[in-house]
Amino acid sequence: MNLFDELYVLGKCHARHTIWVFSDLQQAKFENAKRCLDLCMEDYIGLGAPAEMLWYLGDSTEGADYHELLRMTKLQEDAFGSLGVPLAYASGNHDYDYADLCRRQGRSDFSMPFYEMVQQHPGWRTTADCEETYFKFELGNYMVYFFCDHIAHDNSWCSTHNRIRWGKESYPYGQENWDRVRQDMEACEKPHILTAAHCAFPGGNRDTEFLGMIQPLPLRTRLHLYGHSHIGEYNCPKERIFSEIQWVDWQDIPQVDVASFENIRGSFCHSVMLQIYEDDSLGLFFRNHDRKEWCSAFFPKPYSVEEPGNFGRRAYLSWAPWEGKERPEDPGPGFGAKA
Ligand SMILES: [Fe+2]
Repeated sequence: MNLFDELYVLGKCHARHTIWVFSDLQQAKFENAKRCLDLCMEDYIGLGAPAEMLWYLGDSTEGADYHELLRMTKLQEDAFGSLGVPLAYASGNHDYDYADLCRRQGRSDFSMPFYEMVQQHPGWRTTADCEETYFKFELGNYMVYFFCDHIAHDNSWCSTHNRIRWGKESYPYGQENWDRVRQDMEACEKPHILTAAHCAFPGGNRDTEFLGMIQPLPLRTRLHLYGHSHIGEYNCPKERIFSEIQWVDWQDIPQVDVASFENIRGSFCHSVMLQIYEDDSLGLFFRNHDRKEWCSAFFPKPYSVEEPGNFGRRAYLSWAPWEGKERPEDPGPGFGAKA
């Protein structure tokens, strides 16, 4: 038992809600997906499967081999379904890989096996319609917003990576859509708001454009959770390779990168256990599933407009994110320079 184990157990005693948050299993090969998923599930079950809900922040699969996509969808439906709790899903860019192939073949029909499975699975949540940009649900004193990538029914346009991916001329949403989203958040009856998506808000890792159009977020927004940027991978987050926590630009709202569930691009199979305590404050425990141990913990309490003088408090404890695994090779001088 180390400090993180003690904190986690203490947190469990005070948690009113526990949610298991993960993203980016993102494998094109079934064997790789199964290896990583098995590792995560075994560790999670070893913890006593404590969550009342699963939040999956996109990129469940990768590639356009339809047969493999169906196998990996079934693999994950069986695994997560065996836990007997609801799952909420925000789609991510790789969920649209097969649709992209269809588009390049000139087809208007397409399929997104994992997303469609979630739509049909009893009690699981995602957007009801693939053209919608978000869905929301209540969790205790929180209203939770999931922002999703989206695609036209006829495949004429698609948005991933927080921007338009194809069909710019027919893309239906402009600033007014994101203004409506903000107004909906401002009008919600809950005292706290929590957001989740495949991608970050400005200030976070990688692609941030569309979510930035919702800003300024209501001050009741306590946290944003996202995936997409695999911790420990040089290629995409680049200089932010090990950045797990950032703040939303211009706002006192932390955002947390939970990627990735795989350990091939990312440094290890990674997820976050979110605890919501009796006073509605939050605790996040970052799990290294390869080593079956906690590697960081974060306790954000943003300032409160309802409590004048409360400028928030926060604690962040971490071992090096590459602890237990060889640090990736230094890419050398000039890395990251724009070509
Ligand atoms: Fe992604």
